[in-house]
Amino acid sequence: MSVLSEQTCPVVVLVSGSGSNLQAIIDSRFDAEPAIDIRAVISNVPDAYGLQRAARAGIPGIVVDHRGYADRAAFDAALMEQIDALSPRLVILAGFMRILTEDFVNHYAGRMLNIHPSLLPRYPGLHTHARAIESGDREAGATVHFVTAEVDGGPIIIQARVPVLADDTPDTLAARVLKQEHIIYPRAVRWFADNRLTIDDGKVLLDGERSPLQELISHEH
Ligand code: GRF
Repeated sequence: MSVLSEQTCPVVVLVSGSGSNLQAIIDSRFDAEPAIDIRAVISNVPDAYGLQRAARAGIPGIVVDHRGYADRAAFDAALMEQIDALSPRLVILAGFMRILTEDFVNHYAGRMLNIHPSLLPRYPGLHTHARAIESGDREAGATVHFVTAEVDGGPIIIQARVPVLADDTPDTLAARVLKQEHIIYPRAVRWFADNRLTIDDGKVLLDGERSPLQELISHEH
């Protein structure tokens, strides 16, 4: 039994929308051992396209609609119950558009990841691409990080950088960044599954080293 369970890395993915990052994780889940066993995709939005992607891949979809709960704490408690029933090693936020309570975040400390479409610590929150363009930034990107109670503020695992072009709109920039998200998110999940990530003094180590993770991917676009 324990041998069997070590052959996969059970995860749960939370989505609210399109789920293209979910798709990237679905597509790469069997690329190496341990396989990423997506036990379920949970959405707070009943008609999220990500649920269709899950269904197409034969992965159970679960809806926990936030509108059915009196407050954030009640919603988070229901979500936690669903997640814990699936015993995942890792919880993956992939375009999950709800702010989570501190209790929830602390419960999954060190085992919950998020992807954010900016080069954190720049531009936590919404409208990241418009903000990067308005600021005249030459570079934009995306960040995979461990989730802490500070929104978009947890220890950074990997970032992808892309150029901001003169004629970019938020949409064209978002599309360029999203392509990189689909590379870095599966990579970070794989590192986690392989037990290669640790957090030391608020910083992520890969194989025990503080490697220049930001540079790893910057030449791949
Ligand atoms: C991505 O841009 C991600 O960085 C952000 O939400 C978006 C989700 O896109 N957190 P998708 O649902 O994975 O296509």
